[in-house]
Amino acid sequence: MHNMPYRLLFGFVLSLVLQFSLVLSNPPGLNIGFYQYTCPNAEVIVRDEMTKIISRVPSLAGPLLRMHFHDCFVNGCDGSILLDSTPGSPSEKESIPNLSLRGFGTIDRVKAKLEQACPGVVSCADILALVARDVVFLTKGPHWDVPTGRRDGTRSVKDDALNNLPPPFFDATRNLNQFFIPKGLDAKDQVVLLGGHTLGTSHCSSFASRLYNFSGTMMPDPTLDKYYVPRLKSKCQPGDKTTLVEMDPGSFRTFDTSYYRHIARGRALFTSDETLMLDPFTRDYVLRQAGIAGYPAEFFADFAASMVKMGNMQVLTGAQGEIRKHCAFVN
Ligand code: HEM
Ligand SMILES: *[C@@H]1O[C@H](CO)[C@@H](O)[C@H](O)[C@H]1NC(C)=O
Ligand SMILES: *[C@@H]1O[C@H](CO)[C@@H](O)[C@H](O)[C@H]1NC(C)=O
Repeated sequence: MHNMPYRLLFGFVLSLVLQFSLVLSNPPGLNIGFYQYTCPNAEVIVRDEMTKIISRVPSLAGPLLRMHFHDCFVNGCDGSILLDSTPGSPSEKESIPNLSLRGFGTIDRVKAKLEQACPGVVSCADILALVARDVVFLTKGPHWDVPTGRRDGTRSVKDDALNNLPPPFFDATRNLNQFFIPKGLDAKDQVVLLGGHTLGTSHCSSFASRLYNFSGTMMPDPTLDKYYVPRLKSKCQPGDKTTLVEMDPGSFRTFDTSYYRHIARGRALFTSDETLMLDPFTRDYVLRQAGIAGYPAEFFADFAASMVKMGNMQVLTGAQGEIRKHCAFVN
């Protein structure tokens, strides 16, 4: 539908606009092309590796995009989501929202390639940001310039994840006030970033409470499209903890606006997403994107901008933190 050159051109124009507006707003120590002298091929190495991986295992795009979000929301984008637990101290990986996190092996592979080319230079936190950008581009989404220069943190604590990641059963307003606003993200960032649910799958257990016994009524959530309920029930029996359901059925491997069409029709899997329809500002956004067929320039530009904003949250730079040798362990 959209060929590569067109998307690259769009990315180029977008990056001019973003660079112009971000020169002032990037945190100190973070800039586009941070590795241009210390590891000039860093971004090419990541892109080449991701191109191979996504062409072989397209279903990794969703989890890898989500991983950057989980990293950034829990004490900033510092690669802490990648750390393994140590005896007696469970890491972020052990917390409930980690349920579906996958793709740690991919990050290790990319890291190994980078260590071969330039040992000790590229941080795991930057790898997560670059990989998230690349999986979006490789699934036909926008391309954007990722400010780099993040350093890796040394703290990863299970309960931090629980306290910082918005749950799917909260409404959008509550998630906004409790989780987005305190991190410097606003209502627009929330409605835009939730468009990321155009990629990937969810476990039945993340939304089953809406199908069978919503708020103790023994009925499905009345805001869920009643024609969609039987389809979801046929996939998700009560108590199912393993089945995966496409969040944007029919196009879950393509980054596009079709998840907004599902939200607009009452077919979002999560309360957090469906309730975007209750607020006039976010409803307008959902409906506008849902109505755009073909090349969704507004959503693509917005998504790129919100990803950069999210990726800049509470980063470690300069002499802070470290450059991990292996992403699962502190040096
Ligand atoms: C209010 C905020 C959010 C909530 C409540 C939320 C909730 C969820 C839930 C419950 C799942 C399914 C997990 C599972 O059961 O397997 C999921 C998956 C996913 N989320 Fe979010 N999310 C939010 C924000 C974001 C953001 C900001 C992004 C990235 C831009 C994102 C990207 C994804 C992706 C790509 C998946 C699919 C993962 C896969 O294929 O395994 N989400 N999200
Ligand atoms: C997620 O947490 C569970 C325990 O809550 C743990 O068994 C599992 O290994 C964790 N997943 C990852 C990818 O670390
Ligand atoms: C339905 O939910 C209510 C309230 O949460 C609970 O008391 C009841 O046992 C549930 N019924 C079933 C069959 O799960």
